[in-house]
Amino acid sequence: MESDAIRKAWEEMAAALKDDATSTLRDQFQNQLEHEALFRTLKDSRGASLLDVGCGNGYFALAMAKTCSRVHGIDFSENMIAKANALNERRKEKNVVFTVADVRTFSLKERFDIATTKRCIINLPSHEEQIQAIKHIHTHLLPQGRLLLLEGFQDGYDELNIARAAFGLPPITQATYNLMIDTERFLRDIEGLFTVEHVEYFGTYCLFSRFVHPLLVAPKEPLYDAEENRKAFALQQQLGGIQRFSPVRLYTLRKLSGRKP
Ligand SMILES: C[S@@+](CC[C@H](N)C(=O)[O-])C[C@H]1O[C@@H](n2cnc3c(N)ncnc32)[C@H](O)[C@@H]1O
Repeated sequence: MESDAIRKAWEEMAAALKDDATSTLRDQFQNQLEHEALFRTLKDSRGASLLDVGCGNGYFALAMAKTCSRVHGIDFSENMIAKANALNERRKEKNVVFTVADVRTFSLKERFDIATTKRCIINLPSHEEQIQAIKHIHTHLLPQGRLLLLEGFQDGYDELNIARAAFGLPPITQATYNLMIDTERFLRDIEGLFTVEHVEYFGTYCLFSRFVHPLLVAPKEPLYDAEENRKAFALQQQLGGIQRFSPVRLYTLRKLSGRKP
């Protein structure tokens, strides 16, 4: 899908978006696990400055306002930024600003302790643009700054689809505006820019909600809010996420200073 078409799609999706953490994700158990993982990773970030890239309705940026010294949310959709500003008119967080900007080309005067992306890099239509965006974010981080990248990875989908195929289930289809990150290429491309400090996986939840549950209810379509998914959610909270079968991952990357991207 072309970049302009992707932006248009997000402009339209913004209209339907609520003013809360439900985001554009249909699976609210997955959404909650992702939020919990982000907040857990950010628990030591009191007083830090934060850049939220692809901030959507601004919910996450505003949720970080009380912890962080300042928060800047950027998104290339004018409608999303209008939503975020409207939400902050009610919240009145003085240390939060929102700007319409594209992650591939944005240029801010400020530098940040932490940058976050949640399902934004996968909206870029090529692997080259994905790394270009990560490089832009890198230049906006302070020395030793952290990039928390919560995104989709193709090999996690491949593993789930292998398991599904073995039991006669069709492959999981992707939204046309998403391109999952190629893990090997990503790790090669960030070499010299970042060190990988930590990776959080969601494989326990995904294995049950995207493989076991569909198998139990086939040929019916599984429902996102089904009891099986609630149990898978509780299991992931209890056991943590296994590495395999985890299309979504939260990478904590630490900026290597003194090197040019
Ligand atoms: C899946 S939504 C996630 C929104 C928010 N991070 C959340 O979790 O609720 C992806 C967001 O990234 C934004 N986005 C996609 N491509 C972008 C780009 N090239 N530059 C800036 N924002 C972009 C979209 O407009 C959308 O708001």
